[in-house]
Amino acid sequence: MAESITITDNRTGDSIEVPIINGGVDATEWRKLLPNVWFYDPGFMTTAVCSSAITELDGENGILRYRGYPIEQLAEHSTYLEVAYLLIHGDLPTTEQYEQWRHDVTFHTFIHENMRKRFMEGFHYDAHPMGMLVSAVAAMSTFYPEAKQISDADVRHAQIVRLIAKMPTIAACAHRFFVGMPFVYPDNSLSFEANFLRMMFDPLETIPWRDPVLAKALDLLFILHADHEQNCSTTAMRVVGSSHADPYTACAAACAALYGPRHGGANEQVVRMLTEIGSIDNVDAFVRSVKEGTGGRLQGFGHRVYKNYDPRATIIKKTADEVFAVTGKNPLLDIALKLEEVALKDEYFTSRKLYPNVDFYSGLIYQAMSFPIDMFPVLFAIPRTTGWLAHWEELLEQDSRIARPRQLYIGTNARDYIPIDQR
Ligand code: CMC
Repeated sequence: MAESITITDNRTGDSIEVPIINGGVDATEWRKLLPNVWFYDPGFMTTAVCSSAITELDGENGILRYRGYPIEQLAEHSTYLEVAYLLIHGDLPTTEQYEQWRHDVTFHTFIHENMRKRFMEGFHYDAHPMGMLVSAVAAMSTFYPEAKQISDADVRHAQIVRLIAKMPTIAACAHRFFVGMPFVYPDNSLSFEANFLRMMFDPLETIPWRDPVLAKALDLLFILHADHEQNCSTTAMRVVGSSHADPYTACAAACAALYGPRHGGANEQVVRMLTEIGSIDNVDAFVRSVKEGTGGRLQGFGHRVYKNYDPRATIIKKTADEVFAVTGKNPLLDIALKLEEVALKDEYFTSRKLYPNVDFYSGLIYQAMSFPIDMFPVLFAIPRTTGWLAHWEELLEQDSRIARPRQLYIGTNARDYIPIDQR
């Protein structure tokens, strides 16, 4: 075999040669040699859980491509809705296909009145919008029971359109409830992003939500967040999807995974960290505390896959100036720039290949646009829904088995039950 590995079981002397295909070795082959010996890999550091044709991520070289298209080209020339079509269908749409897709997504933006009145308004007055989103996405399965027919391609497609279209409406609804403002119904004459900005901020005059620069910047941020191969939330989507749960339930699991500060909550943590640092004069001391282990992690830095600059961070940094020209500069930007400069010169960060990731600058832009910090993970979930659904479709097409890893048991050996009065 041109590219292969040989595994030898030293207990028996048996060996097996396994080909390396697409950079991986098939576990079904070596399992034949080593039954009941498990590959110990917490955090899936070296495990490929699937093969996928959606997103290519080369972390060493800072490359990200959706369906073969470099993220830089999509960011410059495409739109979020076109990218959503690309991720779901595999190819860029023709004009006719795009118009149909845009129409379908646009005309599924409304949510059922009971969803808003009886479900969303049932939350405590200060409920976190991401907690509301997680629950609302799961609740949607009760409004569309036909979604359980996951083997019907047309039914699947209808739920994909619904989920992509309704996420901004649910997100804005959660925000309005959180801040005590009345719900704004979708306006289907507007673009995906302009409609979302209106549902969020109308009629506030102090926020330039009507400015097309903001809708354009949001569109770009949505493109950059649309997919990122087997991250924590996509894995959650695939794991729950593998049990053949309906897409709303699987998507709720993905949203829940995204809620954590190590994943979708990181841009929120970046803004909190920069606010705490407070001034560029405090940057050196803060970096020292990170290295000494007393200041926590440098939020927005480091990535499991990128061992180079995250290409999304490069693109976002450029957009920041356009947004700040409309909104005024975020005062935290100078602290962020200084922090980046200091960290990128520091051996601690360079030796560990810790570079700014997508979250380092996105939070600053969202904050300048007047999105409250609590909305940041929700803003991540809106476009990532597309990626989750593309992976869900792919998983079902591949007819994958249910996700069910093994464990290495390290607990006590068998022991007899002792009645409570004798313990
Ligand atoms: N600040 C300081 N040290 C760090 C950081 C950081 N942000 N990230 C990693 N390290 C250190 C870590 O302490 C360890 O050092 P040592 O080898 O001395 O023990 C080494 O670098 C490797 O870290 P790790 O925890 O093994 O790396 P990981 O791949 O498990 O974690 C990560 C990846 C993103 C969770 C982590 O880098 C992190 O916590 N970053 C901050 C949070 C963040 O920005 N998350 C957003 C990720 S991008 C959005 C997305 O795609 O989901």
